Amino acid sequence: MKKNVAVTGPLSVGRPASEWDRAQRIRRIKKLLKEEDAVLVAHYYTDADLQALAEETGGYVSDSLDMARFGHEHPAQTLVVAGVRFMGETAKILNPEKRVLMPNLEATCSLDESCPVTEFSAFCDAHPDRTVVVYANTSAAVKARADWVVTSSIALRLAHYLKRRGEKILWAPDRHLGDYVRRESGADMVLWQGSCIVHDEFRAQALLELKKRYPDADVLVHPESPAAVVELADMVGSTSAMIEAARTRATQRFIVATDNGILYKMRQAAPGKEFLEAPTGGHGATCKSCAHCPWMAMNSLASLEEGLAAGRHEIHIEEGIRKRALEPVLRMLDFAAAERTAVMGLGNA
Ligand code: 13P
Ligand code: SF4
Repeated sequence: MKKNVAVTGPLSVGRPASEWDRAQRIRRIKKLLKEEDAVLVAHYYTDADLQALAEETGGYVSDSLDMARFGHEHPAQTLVVAGVRFMGETAKILNPEKRVLMPNLEATCSLDESCPVTEFSAFCDAHPDRTVVVYANTSAAVKARADWVVTSSIALRLAHYLKRRGEKILWAPDRHLGDYVRRESGADMVLWQGSCIVHDEFRAQALLELKKRYPDADVLVHPESPAAVVELADMVGSTSAMIEAARTRATQRFIVATDNGILYKMRQAAPGKEFLEAPTGGHGATCKSCAHCPWMAMNSLASLEEGLAAGRHEIHIEEGIRKRALEPVLRMLDFAAAERTAVMGLGNA
């Protein structure tokens, strides 16, 4: 018998140790979620194991906007946020009375890291006439300095709205998304120069070659990608919008330019369709991620179980910062809800 094969319990018979461990771990996490009155909210970029577990336990898998909304509306006393740190912080900003745990507090985001609050405040001070709009991928302290928080699913619509009101925008931190929103809306925007290390790696030339090989494929692109990649897209949108496009478009084959964790949900939403990953810098080039966010990858069943069992990896935010950040975050949720109602109203007309 191999040394690493677990020998106790009926499920161990004939199974490799890792699968037995995994099943046990999942069982323990399910039990802990119940005992701790906790709900698991996972981002599309986390491992399929975590997404499946969130779905099986009455939790939720979504984009960053809907994760915030779901956690805010759910009655559980503990929110377990599988994603990156800004997602846990947004949950805490909205729900100070709840305990917010994460599988790994070190899971950051290059956009968040690119925008330290002191430098960002100086940038805002230099543009006092502008409405400050920050992407959700920022720290609580940066959100506290903002007028609006947005995610990619509402960024363009908010820019149109502010433009109609005659407001000029200071945008941070993603320069690619900001540039895309500026081009599409024609709004007056100054941009912070951050970027996402995952989306930054998609390569237009290689994508063009892949498109030539598969001329029937539709190209779906997240707007955190460089402009040259966005230009080759058949559809540009947030993670949720990309999944919806995969589901509703008649096309049977898609080239997907975002984190490959999304393929779990895309395959679920559009069974039978084929998904190809858009090319990144690749091995031997400058690729740091190869279409998978290294911080999203820090979320695992093991780290989730450990954190939940010990009540570790809890999010705390200084109360003054939290209160100031709450206003623009609530504004984001209200704006998104109003937009949804308007779309539904139009649909019913
Ligand atoms: P979404 O807001 O579409 O979930 O994207 C978050 C993110 O980190 C994209 O890289
Ligand atoms: Fe941040 Fe990019 Fe990772 Fe999204 S994929 S969490 S933007 S580093």
